[in-house]
Amino acid sequence: MWRPPQRIKWVPQPGEWPDQKTAAKSRLFSQVNLGPVSLEQRTWIPAMVPWRATGDGEVTPAVLDWYARFARGRPGAIVVEATGIRDIPSGPLLRISNDSYIDGLRRLVDIVREASDGHTKLFIQCIDFLSIRRRPDPERFLKEFLRITDSYRETLDAKDWDERQIRDYLVSLDEASLAKILDERDLESLRMGYRERVTDMHLPQIAELPKVLPDLFAEAALRAKKAGFDGVELHYAHAYTMSSFLSRLNTRNDGYGGPLKNRLRLPLEVLNAVRIAVGKDYTLGCRYLADDIVAGGNTVEDAAQIGVAFAEAGMNFLSLSRGGRFEDAKQPSVGAAAYPYTGPSGYECMPQYYSDERGPFGRNIEPAAQIRNAIRAAGYKTPVIVTGGVHGFNQAEAILSSGKGDIVGFARQALADPDWFLKVRLGRGSENIVCEYTNYCEALDQKHVPVTCKLWDRVDMDEKEILKTFDGKRRLTAPIWERDMDIDEALQG
Ligand SMILES: Cc1cc2nc3c(=O)[nH]c(=O)nc-3n(C[C@H](O)[C@H](O)[C@H](O)COP(=O)(O)O)c2cc1C
Ligand code: SF4
Repeated sequence: MWRPPQRIKWVPQPGEWPDQKTAAKSRLFSQVNLGPVSLEQRTWIPAMVPWRATGDGEVTPAVLDWYARFARGRPGAIVVEATGIRDIPSGPLLRISNDSYIDGLRRLVDIVREASDGHTKLFIQCIDFLSIRRRPDPERFLKEFLRITDSYRETLDAKDWDERQIRDYLVSLDEASLAKILDERDLESLRMGYRERVTDMHLPQIAELPKVLPDLFAEAALRAKKAGFDGVELHYAHAYTMSSFLSRLNTRNDGYGGPLKNRLRLPLEVLNAVRIAVGKDYTLGCRYLADDIVAGGNTVEDAAQIGVAFAEAGMNFLSLSRGGRFEDAKQPSVGAAAYPYTGPSGYECMPQYYSDERGPFGRNIEPAAQIRNAIRAAGYKTPVIVTGGVHGFNQAEAILSSGKGDIVGFARQALADPDWFLKVRLGRGSENIVCEYTNYCEALDQKHVPVTCKLWDRVDMDEKEILKTFDGKRRLTAPIWERDMDIDEALQG
């Protein structure tokens, strides 16, 4: 992963923990409405893909175990990982692409209700993404995949050569020479692996995205409602289809690209279709970027306008992330696919402890405040969720009391210690295991292998009935925090 060149090493700074009375009076542990749904507290575990589904995207015992473990800490809400809305193979990523997935997802809803004693609300993040291929072996790319066009024949002055001769010649060249011959996209396919973009209008499946996506999202959301989720989060963030429509980099010429009004068109049409499918009395929100963090992409000013448009269109919540784009991703090794969290924009999405003077904690707070101000100035009360490097109570409380956000997201901190929320409420915050922002978990995510935390994945390995990775080396969820009390009684006392 890319890290700021300053390489300043930061340690977590959770600060003082509140006693139980202070926690009970805090904004963090106060109620908030997201459309028709009420959260008991303003804490939120944003989507985190743990790579535990079957190869077909089905819920497994390990998926249930993962979400049940988070639910035991009773956060206000959990968002289930990015879940695919299309029937396409996507490895062990959950899917919601046809009705056969509903039963498994219903079990997931039930287990979260049970493990949180009904205190935690559950949303699911619905995602669409475009096709991406692994970085090819250069010889194979030039001999098999590259399309030899007339333009290449002309550049090479090779009108009389047969295709085999051209390919053999290209194979004999070094990369610098190839860079002078291949067009930008072919060169990118050679260096990074082929990747579709929303602007590839010559591809029928890309041109027709505005026709197919509203229904695909609407059907998926209806399944989520049938499975019992409290609401749906549309994934409009990071490197994926909908975020790419919103981005300034979207230059489509069919009325869905160019000026902001056009870039907003598909995200709003999707929202509209989903709303019709699930009805008015169902919570619908989205996750989108406070800043694309890539050259030519959306800035916080764009994101503020987008926020106002979403609020106006009836989103019940807006969860802000930042960066995480393909445009600045690192070159993958041959045989691996490009990963959108490896460049500077990836750093902004999941900042790590080696950082710059600003440090890794709360980098999205000020942009979120700016976006929230614009939404409030336009007269909308839509709750804004702020996430990124939050691990301390005072830090979270300050976001809320200063009006920079309405709900606080804790992704890696919840992974490091899923009981953070309960411990803080009980005045036992000093028992928290605090995230060190190592991004060990993120490296596992990049390899598409089960995500765990380095602070607990080799602890108490003899514990009975725990689930482990296939090689038996890592446990899949955090050890249980033995609570020697009746929680509800303790919280009242
Ligand atoms: C292992 C892992 C998987 C993630 N998967 C998703 C995802 O599916 N959807 C999403 O919007 N963000 C995803 N994220 C980003 C987080 O939701 C969050 O925005 C980011 O980690 C920054 O918050 P934090 O500092 O509290 O961890 C993931 C992060 C991690 C560490
Ligand atoms: S592995 Fe654990 S400590 Fe390291 S960043 Fe992930 S959650 Fe935090």
